[in-house]
Amino acid sequence: MQISPSILSADFANLQSELEAIATADWAHVDVMDNHFVPNLTLGPPVVEALLKVSPVPLDCHLMIEDPDRWAPGYAEAGAQSVTFHVEAATDPVATARAIRAAGARAAFAVKPGTDFAPYEDLLAEVDMVLVMTVEPGFGGQSFMADQMPKVRQVREAVRRRGGEIWVQVDGGVSASTIEQCAEAGADVFVAGSAVYGKDSAADAVAELRCLAEKHRH
Ligand code: DX5
Ligand code: ZN
Repeated sequence: MQISPSILSADFANLQSELEAIATADWAHVDVMDNHFVPNLTLGPPVVEALLKVSPVPLDCHLMIEDPDRWAPGYAEAGAQSVTFHVEAATDPVATARAIRAAGARAAFAVKPGTDFAPYEDLLAEVDMVLVMTVEPGFGGQSFMADQMPKVRQVREAVRRRGGEIWVQVDGGVSASTIEQCAEAGADVFVAGSAVYGKDSAADAVAELRCLAEKHRH
């Protein structure tokens, strides 16, 4: 059970100290948005490179960008330890996943709330994690979509059938009141932005989320 706080809800003027505040987490989730795949713009490779130099935890880069086939491998080459691209934006997801892995990172694909998982089941052979979005990508602080839980179960089932070690991540609206249903459905990596950085103590929030998720360890 791993916690990946999203720095989208952190203070962008103080990212180094914001990363240090979540040193007890497993990952730092970095939301890369290009204003095309989603209607919001955040950061790109130069900032990821700077974060890598100071982060106490590995970086979990979530690319909400067009043409990940072209851009995703660069994040792995820069040193990001996990790189997730959206299947809705990828032209050749197999080649993209392979390029990410060849550069030494864990590879993952993400599905938006309106995207079915079934057509992508064969892609499990190429990745280390699947991200099931529990909000429409683009912004932090949105309401959790409980109607995505059947998809989390479906992914967990497919992973179980295949065997091997593929993680199932949820992202969007994950908080102390929603994390248990995610864990129960089969998620094992939990992204949380406002539920960590919106609290007085990010470390306490990470500990609480972890404790709630652990109750449903599979
Ligand atoms: C949304 C991002 C999320 C976001 C989650 O597009 O992918 O990672 O930061 O924020 P919360 O946890 O506040 O919903
Ligand atoms: Zn994200």
